[in-house]
Amino acid sequence: MTSFRYQNHELYCEDTRLADLIATFGSPLYVYSRKAIIENCSAIEAAFEGHPHRTTYAVKANANVHLLRLIAEQDLGADVGSKGELFLALNAGFSPDSISFSGVGKRDDEIEYALAEDIYAFNVESKQELEVINTIASRLGKTARILLRLNLDIDAGTHAYISTGQKHNKFGISSRKAVEVLRWAQNLQSVEIRGIHSHIGSQILSQRAFVEAAHALERVVGELRSNNIPVHEVDFGGGFGIRYHGVLTHPRLPAETPESESVPVAEFVRTVLPVLRKTGCAVAIQPGRSIVGDAGALLTTVLYRKEQEGKNFVIIDGGMNDLIRPSLYQAHHQIVPVQLSNTIVEQADVVGPCCESGDFFAQDRLLPSVSRGDVLAVLCAGAYGYVLSSNYNSRLRPAEVLVDGSRITLIRRRETLEYLLS
Ligand SMILES: Cc1ncc(COP(=O)(O)O)c(C=O)c1O
Repeated sequence: MTSFRYQNHELYCEDTRLADLIATFGSPLYVYSRKAIIENCSAIEAAFEGHPHRTTYAVKANANVHLLRLIAEQDLGADVGSKGELFLALNAGFSPDSISFSGVGKRDDEIEYALAEDIYAFNVESKQELEVINTIASRLGKTARILLRLNLDIDAGTHAYISTGQKHNKFGISSRKAVEVLRWAQNLQSVEIRGIHSHIGSQILSQRAFVEAAHALERVVGELRSNNIPVHEVDFGGGFGIRYHGVLTHPRLPAETPESESVPVAEFVRTVLPVLRKTGCAVAIQPGRSIVGDAGALLTTVLYRKEQEGKNFVIIDGGMNDLIRPSLYQAHHQIVPVQLSNTIVEQADVVGPCCESGDFFAQDRLLPSVSRGDVLAVLCAGAYGYVLSSNYNSRLRPAEVLVDGSRITLIRRRETLEYLLS
């Protein structure tokens, strides 16, 4: 549910004029809508229609502690992928028994920390990891609740770097081995089996892939039960794709055709729930992008323009160190001026200041013509934006602000040069 809209050719987030934010907080700047995050959480929760479930927000999508606090207030749990994410989730107020710990490479100290904090469960990715968790838990006098992450060998039809559920990917244990591994795990003294888990990738737009995954999990639950292995919960993971193309329309904006298959996250949940329900298990999901993705934008200012051999370049002050998705996955973000003063449209590459030809936000893109000093909004940058930022070229990370109507809160200060010495 995007909260970015034009009013009199000016772009607003909720009731806040984006041009004013840049004037106050500088550029580049991440801006988030409180309303959009709340609406995304409640749309997901409503889709469960009372079926017992846990929605655990995937902290990796955006780990700003203020946003985590807001999501915790919506009664969601958290799925963490590191000690740092667990630390942030606990500090944001997520209750430990609502937290799961995913990831293929958990370190011993991370497992110890999670056990000491008594989190709900570990999503375990290998037999060896199970052994290590058992050993550490028994040393600490604890019982570790676990779900086994299965690799269902399903092509989610997404970018190869964010496809996680195929047999050549590093994630999970082949679903053919579920019975064997969990039967063995039943003998581990300090492990309690809660269920199974899968996460087949991110930015998935195909309902077919999700339905296939749900049926595969249902089959595995049946196999486990017939082998007297208890299964209480199926964690379906995250990956629900959002729309990046054509999010905003305006007579002065070149039209962008939206992704044909994109549906709201609640629709994905409604599609798989009837299948997962047949297992008789409680259901968990781990949405990240679908909670914060369309709630955020990166504002950036045009530094220069240049024309080279018939090609236009718009050079901006935001770069791949601020938002790496276009460089890393050739991801598309709609880019729009915050003030639509120009009726002329041109084709240009929108490029950052980093010393890489891969440092671009858009290539050969139709845009309203812009000049030095104009501010652009890179839409749907709320997920995998700031969290993937870096200090490449010793550039300082941008500030982040949260908008609530016309109320603005600075939720992360812009880095200063001193930071580079620490
Ligand atoms: C285990 C796990 N769960 C949940 C997510 C969140 O995915 P998304 O942000 O696409 O919903 C990820 C991200 O890839 C993940 O690795």
